[in-house]
Amino acid sequence: MQSENKTVVYELEASEFDWQLRPGKTVKAWGFNKQVPGPQLNARKGDTLVVKVKNSLNEPTIVHWHGIRLPAAMDGTGETQKPILPGETYEYRFVVPDSGTFWYHSHYNETLQMERGMYGGIVVAGKDDPTVDAERLLLIDDMRLTDTDDHEERNKLGKWIERHDGREGNTRLINGKEVSTFHMHAGQTERWRMVNAASARYFLLNLGGKPFKVIGTDGGLLERPIEKTELLITPGERYDILVGPFNEGDNIAIENLGYNRTTFLKPRRETYAQLHVGTEKDTKLTVPARLCEIPRLATATAVANRSVKLSVAPSLKNILDFHVNGQTHCNDQPVKVGDLQVWEVSNTSLMDHPFHLHGFFFQVIEENGKVPEYLAWKDTYNLKPKTKIKIAWIADDRPGKWMYHCHILEHHAAGMMAHFEVVRPGQQPMRHTDHNCGSHSNAHPHKTKNLKTMTANM
Ligand code: C2O
Ligand code: CU
Repeated sequence: MQSENKTVVYELEASEFDWQLRPGKTVKAWGFNKQVPGPQLNARKGDTLVVKVKNSLNEPTIVHWHGIRLPAAMDGTGETQKPILPGETYEYRFVVPDSGTFWYHSHYNETLQMERGMYGGIVVAGKDDPTVDAERLLLIDDMRLTDTDDHEERNKLGKWIERHDGREGNTRLINGKEVSTFHMHAGQTERWRMVNAASARYFLLNLGGKPFKVIGTDGGLLERPIEKTELLITPGERYDILVGPFNEGDNIAIENLGYNRTTFLKPRRETYAQLHVGTEKDTKLTVPARLCEIPRLATATAVANRSVKLSVAPSLKNILDFHVNGQTHCNDQPVKVGDLQVWEVSNTSLMDHPFHLHGFFFQVIEENGKVPEYLAWKDTYNLKPKTKIKIAWIADDRPGKWMYHCHILEHHAAGMMAHFEVVRPGQQPMRHTDHNCGSHSNAHPHKTKNLKTMTANM
């Protein structure tokens, strides 16, 4: 049989440009092809995606393909490639092995480049996708702007708050627009692919209290649709939901109910867009009761073979440091291709952190002693304060340098991240570093022992 896989080629140019958030409000944005978000990249499962990234900014950049199981060399981090310098073009080329909703974003000077708009969505279609009346890709974001629509330079206190909370903007965006109105037909059901592209803002989705169905998340379809009226989408996460059918004349606010993640700035209920429901139309909706099969990697009782501890500690130099296993930017132990990984990931701090693993999907098999509501492939998962989860995953044969980190960009930048290598059995790690944050090592006890007790307040 002839393969139906194609090669899909895109060109993205990173540059600075004027971007209209709404009539009368224009900002200096940084982004791809002069739009925020950048162009939606479309492919079918199994296709080869070729993306030529030209850097027309005045500073280097790198593009990361969040959620795609690609070879390490294509992951788009400072570990796997040299930054793309101003004026240079770099070609990414990889197969997209999974259907689902993914996204790309800058992985260089992220707290600034992503804040200004350097991200976009990727939709990979699959044979098992349910038939819906329409699809929409919705990228949620915010920007912090001054009264004169400039990106805000924070003062010392502002910077300190930002380091702790992550940057939350005062301009709320869906697909780069501040006020949007979406139209859909009564009687129809749409698939909305939601991506939280914000630096730090959590999004607790509500559609006027009307129920919707979650059908997919980071790594593709769930086994069966799950009905919800509220859905928390944390930075980096994706959720695919079925929305509708509604009645003609319905006017529904697309809202963030506000989620308290224990920041200095208090969360508020806020509207992002309006949905207007027009004339009735026929539907072609077909959603099987069983969407797909997710093989369970391990049961909740599986014994963890690694622990990853996320914590926040006072620091003499930076006031606050964000740690993985007591270290900033640490080096974790290698992972062997084919070995079942059962990691206990804990959050000992008093604030939430969305944990993101590059390049691989995991299953959350236990959370605070309980089995999660449903099985799913995830690459980003929110850890509430004082929470422990167990995740299971297996590295397929893609050796190289990978990382995991908190997807609150300011926390990532402040050190809440770890590098690790995937190695083939019998292969030596490329780098003979001291694995300073490995779970079996007690090296480098934290220097400021007595300060540590203060972390109770962080
Ligand atoms: Cu979406 Cu390393 O990140
Ligand atoms: Cu964090």
